[in-house]
Amino acid sequence: MALAKTDASGGSGLLPEVLSFSSSLALDRQLLREDLVGSLAHVTMLGRTKVIPESDAKAIRDGLIEIWKRADAGKLELPDEEDVHMAVEVELNRTIGAPAALLHSARSRNDQVATDLRLHVREVAAKALEQLTGLISELVTRARAEKDLILPSYTHRQRAQPVSLAYWLASYGSAFLRDAQALVFVLEQCKRLPLGVGAISGTSLPIDREVTRQLLGFEGVTLNGMDTVGDRDFALDLLYATARFFVHASRLSTDLIDFTTQEFGFASLSGDISMGSSMMPQKKNPDVFELIRGKSGKAIGNLTGLLTTVKGLPGGYNRDLQEDRASLLETGPMLLTTLSVLRLSLPRVTFHPEKCRSGLEEGFTQATDLAEALVKKGMPFRKAYMAAGALVKRVQEKGITLRAATVELAQSVDPAFDASVLSVLEPSGAVARKASAGSTGPEAVEATLKTLEAEAKTLAAHAAKVPRLAALFQVLTTA
Ligand code: ARG
Repeated sequence: MALAKTDASGGSGLLPEVLSFSSSLALDRQLLREDLVGSLAHVTMLGRTKVIPESDAKAIRDGLIEIWKRADAGKLELPDEEDVHMAVEVELNRTIGAPAALLHSARSRNDQVATDLRLHVREVAAKALEQLTGLISELVTRARAEKDLILPSYTHRQRAQPVSLAYWLASYGSAFLRDAQALVFVLEQCKRLPLGVGAISGTSLPIDREVTRQLLGFEGVTLNGMDTVGDRDFALDLLYATARFFVHASRLSTDLIDFTTQEFGFASLSGDISMGSSMMPQKKNPDVFELIRGKSGKAIGNLTGLLTTVKGLPGGYNRDLQEDRASLLETGPMLLTTLSVLRLSLPRVTFHPEKCRSGLEEGFTQATDLAEALVKKGMPFRKAYMAAGALVKRVQEKGITLRAATVELAQSVDPAFDASVLSVLEPSGAVARKASAGSTGPEAVEATLKTLEAEAKTLAAHAAKVPRLAALFQVLTTA
């Protein structure tokens, strides 16, 4: 790459190989909109505080707006520079000439990049929060529509107890709600503006950080410049929230990959989300869910990568921090596309009630209900547990399901069994009788769904209030 090192970033004596090695433009050009919005606010403040003449501030603003519009129209060729910040300054100079030299007054790339990154993280977190709360609402709607479908739950990947599909859906809804709350925390961590601390210790020029804060929609300004220029905690928080979301999405995916196997047969995928094999004509593969599971590895890797980059750095800015770019800039698109593909795919998974039901019966999943029915008749739990276990063993020996056990057979195991106790063997009854909070019982599930619905609504409203780049640009063009 033919990079031009300008005097502005330290002179032209650098080896081209070293310059190319150190350039972040290939990645951070993705921050162009953030950079332009930050510069628009900065120059507006410089004009209002008279750090630079108002007429120059206006010329710079017009130039930045023109660059944004050219980029929007796909007509911007950024100059080959060390990074997006220098590239914009050089482009501005090409566009408006001499006043461009005033833009970087009272600013360093250290506070500039910290600002771009916070704007980026804030935008991604708000968009992800919007998507994630949409996903939670959709899970709630689906759960209500399929509340009568019953399937086995699993512990140790062994069939455990009957649950409703609504309960299974609400389990992931609950995990995603925690992820949405983690995104709210990310937004919290982005609420102070870095711009104005300069390279590390502030500036003697009479700037007013309050003006930039207000223009960029932050709630406060950062507390200490030395901390600010070396801080990537807000980025780590996004990477953590993303990694954790992916862990949940990955586990959901594994459930669905299993459920859609011929071995389980509980569900199938519609043709528009399942992939074929280039060789085996019969295949209908769950690639979408495998890819989500696969991407979870990258999400975790990105978090680990940035933690490792930051760990052990001395205070203040260090160039190592530029290595945040790959992990951070990969995360937003990966998170947002995964969320939208998940929202497209889940409605295209159809559950098969009959198959789910035979999974329940073949798995003796009502054994705990049997024991609890004996407990209700006054038998101590451990004794009831042994009796139910003995009956399971007996029906297994006979090669029949629990529900096929007759009263005579059951009483030959333990005389406490009677017709009313055996009536609990109907799997839908096993679900219907659960009454404890957080259980699979219909009322408990509806209570969970109500909570998920209400929280998703509140958090969606939170996401809608976050200032977005496009809106900031509009306001800044008229500021
Ligand atoms: N490209 C740099 C980064 O992303 C910008 C800050 C450079 N600062 C410096 N003092 N060289 O971190």
